[in-house]
Amino acid sequence: MRVAKLYLIGHPVKHSVSPRIYARAFKELGINATYDLIDVDEQGLPAIVAELRGSEDCLGFNVTIPHKVRVKHLLDSVKGPAQVIGAVNTVVRSGEGLAGINTDWIGFRKALKRVAGTATYGRALIIGAGGAGRAAAYGLLDMVDELIIVSRGGVTARSLAKDAVTWGIRRAVGLKASPKTCVWAALRSDLIVNASPVGMVGHEGTPVPKEGLAGGTVVLDMVYNPLETELLRNAREAGCVTIDGLWMLVYQANENLKEWFGAEASIDALREEGLKVLRARTAEQG
Ligand SMILES: NC(=O)c1ccc[n+]([C@@H]2O[C@H](COP(=O)([O-])OP(=O)(O)OC[C@H]3O[C@@H](n4cnc5c(N)ncnc54)[C@H](OP(=O)(O)O)[C@@H]3O)[C@@H](O)[C@H]2O)c1
Repeated sequence: MRVAKLYLIGHPVKHSVSPRIYARAFKELGINATYDLIDVDEQGLPAIVAELRGSEDCLGFNVTIPHKVRVKHLLDSVKGPAQVIGAVNTVVRSGEGLAGINTDWIGFRKALKRVAGTATYGRALIIGAGGAGRAAAYGLLDMVDELIIVSRGGVTARSLAKDAVTWGIRRAVGLKASPKTCVWAALRSDLIVNASPVGMVGHEGTPVPKEGLAGGTVVLDMVYNPLETELLRNAREAGCVTIDGLWMLVYQANENLKEWFGAEASIDALREEGLKVLRARTAEQG
């Protein structure tokens, strides 16, 4: 029997928990497939995409940092919201070739709704305006009135704010991140989303100082390694509703399974598998 082959392409990818999450899903669904990591830098990306294009057993692949934007130019089409978000995280092979789609925005939205319920928000703060920040802004379209977006340099945040208004957000501003700006913006927001790498292993710290966190605010951190970032720990201690990045990762993975196999696994089982991997890693790190 033929084995379907799937991959995650990025750099670095060796710490990804996705192979274990997909292995769990394949087992539950009785699918004969593998999901492997391909660590490749920007120079090597075109050759890898060409190789996967030529491999008929490859049903598709996921794309992560730093290739989510560049990969668009190596595909036959970019479909749906991936066009306006401007980033592709999933590639699907079909009769028409390789199609790039975006499932991060759905994963983000489902994670938010799963933990915080179907609330709407007056104002949301998004930290980071790369592919993940753009997916969050798109995912919030019918859930927020106003957006404040901050990024390290400010340029990408301003550009995303402009786009978000054209997508239908009533008001959006883009600013350069600083501790003072983030405290100011966070205290005015009922939802805070970290879509920057700040807080992940190797990028320790928090994008919002403690004094910006008030009880009742919903705080979603896309970072999942560690599971409880400094931002989430401070938010929990301040009485906020906290949502870790593993929720988004597993909902996004399930969207990809739908695209590749037309089947969905149990979200709770996928999360349990992710938690096992992350707990084992924390224990190893001492
Ligand atoms: N849980 C999940 O399923 C999931 C899915 C997707 C992404 N993520 C995570 O989300 C994060 C961002 O991913 P990405 O693909 O969007 O990365 P990216 O394209 O590299 O964008 C990162 C963004 O963060 C901003 N940034 C960096 N340092 C900052 C700081 N100190 N303060 C404020 N903003 C800062 C950058 O600002 P400039 O634009 O000015 O450089 C940029 O806009 C990563 O940690 C990734 O692992 C998680």
